[in-house]
Amino acid sequence: MENLRVLIVGGTGYIGKRLVKASLAQGYQTFVLHRPEIGVDIEKVQLLFSFKEKGAKLVSGSFNDHQSLVNAVKLVDVVICAISGVHVRSHQILLQLKLVDAIKEAGNVKRFLPSEFGTDPARMAHALEPGRITFDDKMVVRKAIQEAGIPFTYISANCFAGYFLGGLCQIGHIIPSTDSVVIYGDGNEKGIYVDEYDIAMYTIKSIDDPRTLNKTVYIRPPENILSQREVVQIWEKLIGKELQKTSISAEQFLSSMEGQPYEQQVGMIHYYHVCFEGCLANFEIGEEGVEACELYPDIKYTTVEEYMKRYV
Ligand SMILES: NC(=O)c1ccc[n+]([C@@H]2O[C@H](COP(=O)([O-])OP(=O)(O)OC[C@H]3O[C@@H](n4cnc5c(N)ncnc54)[C@H](OP(=O)(O)O)[C@@H]3O)[C@@H](O)[C@H]2O)c1
Repeated sequence: MENLRVLIVGGTGYIGKRLVKASLAQGYQTFVLHRPEIGVDIEKVQLLFSFKEKGAKLVSGSFNDHQSLVNAVKLVDVVICAISGVHVRSHQILLQLKLVDAIKEAGNVKRFLPSEFGTDPARMAHALEPGRITFDDKMVVRKAIQEAGIPFTYISANCFAGYFLGGLCQIGHIIPSTDSVVIYGDGNEKGIYVDEYDIAMYTIKSIDDPRTLNKTVYIRPPENILSQREVVQIWEKLIGKELQKTSISAEQFLSSMEGQPYEQQVGMIHYYHVCFEGCLANFEIGEEGVEACELYPDIKYTTVEEYMKRYV
């Protein structure tokens, strides 16, 4: 639809800022929530005004003021929420229940995309504590959306490349070593790595597509479905050097969580399910889902090798 009006909530965040950029690039009327609570956070304020310079409209609204959220969502056709949900930074997934209430009351929104952008929480009922909180909270939000009868799309973006490729799939690392790497298990479980701007582009493509209505969109760039060992091989080829490799078993990995801060343990469980279990790629997409690269073959996604060149 031409002139689609899109509100991005959490637009100053890691994935949110890319969503704003992608929505503007698509030519949509892009609204970005400006929360008074950000106060004098100069980086966020400057970022918001840089969006305004590029054509976005800033809308004031607070999660502490229901009517302000209702007023904000009344301005648009589509709401995308990219609120934080990584414990090492901040975890606010359940705050979205307030946004769901506002969307329900406003009654005009044609599509809502809650803050997901990772592992499909519907497939993680077996996830271990304490990391399962991310999936459980996202499922609480899904339930509220569906009970309110709000049209939705859920984006399962798999691994943000910056976290996983930057660290050669090791938690706590975001710049690849040129010396050594710890291989998780046999290192052969497949993960799926996606450039963050590609995630934003696929997301924006999906918001006005009848094929994605009330579906989960899985982003599975075919060339980026790789094991940790394959990621390491790509890196070794780029730097022209073989890394020293040690390995850690699943049991050793899980027992190393003991004594770690809670937020670190949450992240470790996410890595456990991705790297030891292969939870992102070990299933076929069923009737409830669609695959983004098949839907939008015109998007030339960034391959793992292209992404990793930045670290050389
Ligand atoms: N697949 C992966 O590898 C992966 C990795 C990381 C995250 N994720 C997922 O991606 C989503 C977004 O995460 P992110 O890392 O992009 O988030 P983030 O950068 O940590 O935060 C995004 C935004 O959340 C908003 N926010 C934070 N605290 C808030 C509060 N108290 N009240 C209202 N808004 C608040 C802020 O937006 P404003 O200040 O603009 O309002 C912030 O910029 C989450 O669902 C997360 O689970 C996936």
